[in-house]
Amino acid sequence: MNAKLFSPISFRELEIKNRIVMSPMCMYSSESEDGTVHPFHITHYESRAAGQAGLIMVEATAVQKHGRISSKDLGIWDESHVEGLKKISDRIHAHGSKSSIQLAHAGRKAEDEEVIYSASPIAFSDAYKTPEEMTKQDITETIEAFKSGAERAKKAGFDIIEIHAAHGYLINQFLSPLTNERKDDYGGSKENRYKFLYEIIEAVKKAWDGPVFVRISADEYNPHGNSDKEFVYFAHEMKKQGIDLIDCSTGGVVPAKISSYPGYQIPKAEMIKSQASIPTGAVGMIQSGIQAEEILQNERADLIFIARALLRNPYWAKYAADELKQDIEAPKQYVRGWM
Ligand SMILES: Cc1cc2nc3c(=O)[nH]c(=O)nc-3n(C[C@H](O)[C@H](O)[C@H](O)COP(=O)(O)O)c2cc1C
Repeated sequence: MNAKLFSPISFRELEIKNRIVMSPMCMYSSESEDGTVHPFHITHYESRAAGQAGLIMVEATAVQKHGRISSKDLGIWDESHVEGLKKISDRIHAHGSKSSIQLAHAGRKAEDEEVIYSASPIAFSDAYKTPEEMTKQDITETIEAFKSGAERAKKAGFDIIEIHAAHGYLINQFLSPLTNERKDDYGGSKENRYKFLYEIIEAVKKAWDGPVFVRISADEYNPHGNSDKEFVYFAHEMKKQGIDLIDCSTGGVVPAKISSYPGYQIPKAEMIKSQASIPTGAVGMIQSGIQAEEILQNERADLIFIARALLRNPYWAKYAADELKQDIEAPKQYVRGWM
């Protein structure tokens, strides 16, 4: 039987050779602290493409300098970033994988900046600075920065953009009632809290005609946070805007105790897929090929995002294929080891 994990999937004109996505993971390795790519990044992403993950997603990459989590984050706020990012994308393509990049802004979770910004002036915890409430002009500039980031991603040759609206970073800070206490038309109702993401998606679409994914935190682990109903509303809105896939993570909005176990976030991907009829990505402690195949066969999600297992083993796809008794193409240099 052909495993679904190794079947291709298309988003618009783009075909990905299998359903395995290298989940975005910050490497905090821009050693020059100016957002540029370093040799480590190229080795890191290329090796996972050689390992046959169908889609490689470059880590959260800051659209504004003050939107970095740390000073060692990758950036895409300046033209000087394009050259290095293009090297990553080219080396991913050299192995037949598709490339994507996660456009991000940390908002109140920026750790190294003097002045930080958010929807409302509420600190994440005592260990964090209190952000300044964004003015209308700050909002406009940030939306413009996501658009410029998309233009640069295009110049760098990426196939897919993912907008990072999860894990309590800036967009999530607007979406959640736990972090957004604004009195203007960006706060209050769910419709208003969605407005910032809405405008970012519209701006990105002006600069980018390829597939766009959005990562959300579909559980805030707090009774006063967004509910399933609100997430389904956001998903419907994203679908209307032409978003190609919702990558369903959870948490990070406010400090919370999360009990994680294999597949703990999959029910969220399943709920959004079935209730909003939009493709979803499943992520979170997906460790084996059999586990991934179950998710796909039961149509609980469309893509399988793998993070830590790919840090342990760049050839995770090969191990999953062996488990599922599938033959997959080896990088030509490695054929003798993959037979
Ligand atoms: C080192 C590390 C860095 C991460 N950085 C990001 C990131 O840049 N963007 C993001 O959306 N998630 C990030 N995550 C979360 C992962 O993408 C993934 O959602 C999470 O680790 C759960 O998947 P796993 O159980 O397969 O590791 C990071 C996780 C790790 C371990």
